[in-house]
Amino acid sequence: MITTDISKAKQVLEAGGIVAIPTETVYGLAGNAFNEAAVRKIFELKRRPLYNPLIVHIHSAEFLSQVATDIPAAAIKLAESLWPGPLTMILKKKPAVPDLVTAGKDTVAVRVPNHPLALQLLRQLSFPLAAPSANPFSSISPTTAAHVAEYFGDQLPVILDGGDCQRGLESTIIGFEEEQPVLYRLGALPVEGIEKVAGKVVYRTKAAGTDVTAPGMLSKHYSPATRTLLTENVDQAVRAHRGLRIGLLVFKDSYRGDDVAYQECLSPSGDMETAAANLYAAMHRLDKQDLDLILAELLPEEGLGKTINDRLRRAAEQ
Ligand code: TXA
Ligand code: MG
Repeated sequence: MITTDISKAKQVLEAGGIVAIPTETVYGLAGNAFNEAAVRKIFELKRRPLYNPLIVHIHSAEFLSQVATDIPAAAIKLAESLWPGPLTMILKKKPAVPDLVTAGKDTVAVRVPNHPLALQLLRQLSFPLAAPSANPFSSISPTTAAHVAEYFGDQLPVILDGGDCQRGLESTIIGFEEEQPVLYRLGALPVEGIEKVAGKVVYRTKAAGTDVTAPGMLSKHYSPATRTLLTENVDQAVRAHRGLRIGLLVFKDSYRGDDVAYQECLSPSGDMETAAANLYAAMHRLDKQDLDLILAELLPEEGLGKTINDRLRRAAEQ
C-alpha cells in the first residue's frame, strides 16, 4: 500500500516488519535495526549479499550514543553542522547493533535523514531504522514511491510516500582515521562541504570490486538493464551507433538531430542540483523505452558532477 500515513508504517515496524520510507536522497527499505529477524528480511527482500552492511538511521545526533562509541571530535562537528542531511558516518559500533546490520564489522554506518516524514516516523519509534536503498541489489535506486512499488509491489505492506526525493543521489559516506575524514562513497553532499567543517578529506581509491569496505563502491551498481555507454561528445557517439535504437541522457544541451528514439535532459539550466535530483528517474524512464543502447553524457568533474559521473560510470559497467 502506498500511503502518507505514518501510523501505518509505525505499526508494521513495531511488529518486526519492513516498510519503504522516503528520505531526501533515495527511498529506503527500513526495519528495526535492533531486531535481527527484521534486518534479515531486508537482506532477503533486496537479495543483498550478507557481506554488504546497512546504514542505521536515527532522528538526531543525540541518539548516536545508543549505536556508536569512541566518536571522534570531527564526527561530532560534522553531525552538528550537517545533520539532518545526506552524510553517513562510519563509527565504532555499540554491541546493541546486531552483527547482521554491520556485516560483522566493528563499525556502524549512521545518518540522520533530512525528510519530514522519515524524521517524524523515527521520533515516534523507540529504535533506529536499518535501511538500504529500496532497490534490488545492483539496480537503479528509487527516487519516487512508484519506483519502489515497481520493484517490490505487494511484497511491502507499506510504502510511505514522501514525494520525489529532493537530492536524488545516495548520501556521501565518510569514515575516520584518527580525526581525519576518509571518503568511502561519493554522494549527495559534495566533499567540499565536508572539508569546510572537518578539514581535508582523504580519498580511498581501491581497485573496483576488490574491496568490500563500502560495496557502494562495487564497479557494477545503479545499473539499468539497457546497455549503457558514456560519452563526452554526444554528436559523435550518436553517429558511431547509427542504426540502433538510441536513448540519450544529456546534462544541459538537448540533442538536435532526429536520429535518436528518446532523450532525457537532466538540467536545461545547467545546475548540478537539478541534474542530481532528476538522474535516477531519468534512468528509470530510459530503461522502459525498449532501447538498444543508452548514451550518457558525462558532466564536468566538479562538485556534484563528480558523484553523478561516478553513478554513470557504474551504470555503464558490464
Ligand atoms: O542515501 C543513502 O545513504 C540511502 C538512504 C536510504 O539513506 N541508503 C543507502 O544505503 O544508499 P545502501 O545500503 O544502498 O548503501 C549503503 C552503503 C553500502 O555501500 C555499504 O557497504 C556501506 O554503506 N556501509 C554500511 N555500513 C558500513 C560500514 N560499517 N563500513 C563501511 N561501509 C558501510
Ligand atoms: Mg544502494
